[in-house]
Formats: sequence, C-alpha cells, structure tokens
Amino acid sequence: MGYPYSEPSGAVGNGAGRGRGLRSDRWVVGTDEVALEHRVALASAGVPVTPTGGRPLIGISDSASDLNPCNLPLRDLVPAVREGVEEAGGFPVVFPVMSLGEDLMKPTAMLYRNLVAMEIEETLRSYPLDGVVLLANCDKTVPAALMGAASTGLPALVVTGGSRPPCTFRGRRLGTGTDLWRLWDLRREGGLDDAAWAELEACLASARGACNTMGTASTMAVLCEVLGFSLPGSSTVPSGDPRLLAVARSAGRRVVDLVREGTGPDRVCTDASVHNALVVLNAIAGSTNAVLHLAALCGRLGLDFDLDTLDRLGRGVPLVADVEPAGDGLVPDLDAAGGVPALLAVLASFLEGDTVLADGRTLADVAAAAPPPHGPAIRPLSAPLGSDGSFRVVRGSLAPDGAVLKRPTATAQLLKHRGRAVVFRSYEEMRARVEDPALDVDEASVLVLAGCGPVGGPGMPEWAMVPVPRKLLEAGVRDVVRVSDARMSGTSFGTVFLHAAPEAAVGGPIGLVEDGDWIAVDADSGRLDLLVEPRELERRRRAFTPPAPEQRGWTALYQAHVTQAPSGCDLDFLRLPPGRRPCLAEPVVGRS
Ligand code: FES
Repeated sequence: MGYPYSEPSGAVGNGAGRGRGLRSDRWVVGTDEVALEHRVALASAGVPVTPTGGRPLIGISDSASDLNPCNLPLRDLVPAVREGVEEAGGFPVVFPVMSLGEDLMKPTAMLYRNLVAMEIEETLRSYPLDGVVLLANCDKTVPAALMGAASTGLPALVVTGGSRPPCTFRGRRLGTGTDLWRLWDLRREGGLDDAAWAELEACLASARGACNTMGTASTMAVLCEVLGFSLPGSSTVPSGDPRLLAVARSAGRRVVDLVREGTGPDRVCTDASVHNALVVLNAIAGSTNAVLHLAALCGRLGLDFDLDTLDRLGRGVPLVADVEPAGDGLVPDLDAAGGVPALLAVLASFLEGDTVLADGRTLADVAAAAPPPHGPAIRPLSAPLGSDGSFRVVRGSLAPDGAVLKRPTATAQLLKHRGRAVVFRSYEEMRARVEDPALDVDEASVLVLAGCGPVGGPGMPEWAMVPVPRKLLEAGVRDVVRVSDARMSGTSFGTVFLHAAPEAAVGGPIGLVEDGDWIAVDADSGRLDLLVEPRELERRRRAFTPPAPEQRGWTALYQAHVTQAPSGCDLDFLRLPPGRRPCLAEPVVGRS
C-alpha cells in the first residue's frame, strides 16, 4: 500500500470505521460528532461525502489571480479538472493559493516561492485531501507547487495554463521578455521613439498566459512533463487552446488513479528522472532559474543534486530546441513541432527510458509513440543549435561554491576573458550609475553586481543582466561579462555568470570585489577568479559589514533560514537529508 493508504495516527473520538482506506476517511467516516461535523462542513461546500467514505477528496489548488495575468488562464481550467475528478469517482475541492506574479511582485516573486510551497504543504496536511491537481503557470508558482506537494508525499499532478500568444510589433513577431530587453537597448541607443515605445506597450498588453519564450515558466512546464508531474504533451499547449481543457480533465481523472495506486511524488521523481530533467534542460537551453528549482525539489525528496552534474551531463547534450532566447522560435512553435514527446524521441539516446511519466507510460514508450518532429523548433540530432551542453558551472576565488552560465546566450569570445571590475553593491546603485557617461568602463570591463543573493536581495531578484552601459551601447558594444549573486530571467541573455555563491550578504568573496580588481573567467574550464592577493582579500573581509537582516514577518524568517543557490534557496528546515523519503506528519483528527 502506498502512502495515502497508510495506517493513521492520532484519530480521536469513537472513530468507528475511521482510520482505514483513504486518508480523507479519517475525517469523514464514523458515527461520532467529529465525523458528522466534518461531513456537514463538506456538504455545505457542495461535497456530499457519506459516512462510509471511500471516494477520494482531490484538492485543486488554484493560483489564478488578477494580479498575475500569466496564471489567469488557469481559471478556465478549474471546471474541467472538477469534471475529470468526478468522472473517476472522486470529489473535487478547489482551494486558492497565493499567486506569484513575476512582473508585479517586488522585490521578486522568488522571495515567496518557499512561502507558497509551505502554504500548499500545510493545506494538504491539515485538510482531508487524498491527492491534488496543482494549477500553476508563472515562473515561481510551478516550483512552489511541486515543492509543497513533494513534501507531503500525496499524489499530485501539475496542470499548466499555457504560453500567451505572440504579438506582432511593426511586422515582427515578438517573444515575451527577450524582445523587450532587446528593444529597450534599442530605445536607449535612440532607435525607438516615444510613439513606437507606446505602440510596443499596447502590443505586449494584449495576451494572457506564460511567457512564450523558453523562460522559467516554459522551462519548468517542460520539466514537469519530463519528471512525471504533467501529462505527456501538455506543457507546451498555448493558453486558450481547447486542448488544455482536455488536459485538465484528464489530469482530474488521472490523479484519482494515482490515489488509488498510492503513487506519490517520491515514487514519480527519482534520480533517473532528475537525470532526464537535467539532460532536457540542456537540450532546450532552459532557464537558469530551473537549476535552483530542481535543486530545491530534490532537497524536498531526499535526492542528491549537485551543480557539477548539470555541467558534466550537459557536455555531450545537443541543443535541439530552437526557441528564444537561445534560438529563433517560440513555445507555440515547439508545440507545433510535437512538444515534449517529440523532444524526448529526439533525445532518447541521452535519457533513462524506464522512468514513469504522469500517464503511467514509461518515457521510452512515450518517446516511441511520438511522431517525428514536424517543424523547425525541434532540430534533429544531425543539426543542433549547439552540441556541447547549455550550462557551465564555474568555481574559483570569486565563487568558491559555484556560479552558473548559460552558454548559448553568451558571447563566445567572452567565455574566456580577463577584465577589470566595475562594481555595483546594490541594484539601486547600479541603476543610478550604469547610464552615467562618466562611468569608468570599457568593453573589456567585468560588471559585478553584488549584494543581491537569497539573503541580500532578499530573494535573489532577477537583476543580474546588468544593462550594457549606455556609453558602450552607443559605441556598438552588445555584450560585456557580468558576474552577480543575483538571478536573471530565463528570457534574458548575455555573458552573465549567475548565482555566485556564497553571496555577498553572508560574506562571499563577491562582496569584497573593488573597482579596478582583475577578474578572470573561463567558462569551459569552469573557472571564475578574483585576482587579488589573499592578504588583501583577508583585509577586506575583516572590514566587511553584512547588511542588517529584516526584523519581522516572512522576510525575517526567510533570511534566517534560506540556503544558498547551490541548494536551491529553500528553507533549511524544509529539506530532507539525502536518502530520506517524505513522510507527512499527520494531524490529530478530532474536534478543532
Ligand atoms: Fe509570468 Fe513569464 S512573467 S510566465
């Protein structure tokens, strides 16, 4: 018997019949006042449970919000999930969760990923739920949902809401994020007047759904399929496409099966599926943020994760997804080319074929059943965009615990480079100085943005793609080396060494860099070094004063417990030691 059917503990009252079968039966089966009260509460919400129980209660976590247009399409999927659950003999119950809107939440939605993961975990723990369908779309909502559900061990499926339709600006199709950053640089150079800028705004405001480039949301959606948390073929379906209703309905049915089988996340997500996720992450040149989220998810499941595996595994993996920012296409093109099943078919020789995907088939079976890619967004192995992996992990005196670079969106000539540092110690300082014509910077400079990591940000905002200073842009420079303890959007690009650990706020060497210091990077050799004498570095370390932490609220708890980037920025008390399996601490089920 799997986890949801395990013998309960802590039941009180006469408990007649309570404690056998489904987890939710502990709440609703029985002849005492406690079971009656629970049944009344559910019946009042339109869920007619009976004293004999036996029908799974399936949570539907809904993260749709007017504050988050990426997640709004999820609202339309709720009825379909409900139908699916009912068709399979379960009771659907919808509950809201905080929506993490990437664009509007400040300083960053990442600050709240762990909070939502806790919210989902505690909702599942404290209510009579047997399984859950997690409706999520925007960047942080997907990993938050995965992490929360993973910690409970309850059967869970993710349904994503799809990418937004591309808009057309002056005859050119625009990809979300990536093209905005390019057009902003064009405007800074004087190449886009006020009228064009207003036209662009109107154009971009025309759609709902996740970013349609290979940003974090699309990357995480693809990885949900690969890991076995989303139904095969579902993650690239565009928002508003009627196929998503069928996906939602199927997910509702399927999660009831998972409950009856007792298949929880720890059985779905194994070392082999993480291997596959890392291969696919390289093959799609996915968001660097996914590295953090995978590390955090593994931490919830007691699985090993280390940055070096990402680099080592990737070295032989071809980049076959031709999607912005590494390529030219968009996520709807990837879908038209066959979506994730077609990707898996192309990559089959690099993958562990016996992992089980969300519909119960093995990855090898899904790949074998996929039609050959039929569109340019999935390239054949004979003509990849790149052939040596998409990620490089670097270490050295500037980042002893590692930093990450996405290679296909970097400038090849800058992958091995020496330059003098131009240092910004905060986002505000960077914004104030980077456009200054008097800034002492040239095309060989290395821009360092420190103080923006998990503790320092707080929440490690996506500030690392420091703009190329205006005076360089005007001189025709399009990229410079940047190093930061912050993150950058999956839609971003440039030679940016990210997630430098330890971060400045906890005493990492990135906080000790001074203007004019020499920095050496060598991405392919895995090096990132601050060329300063150890004695001088020690002098600076003694003089360093860490920033004062927040004193109250979520941020205070977060800063006190957040782990560094290589561990995924989860809270230390939510991670499992490697080798341990998640085990839900069941509540006492009695009078409230
Ligand atoms: Fe929400 Fe990109 S901002 S998915």
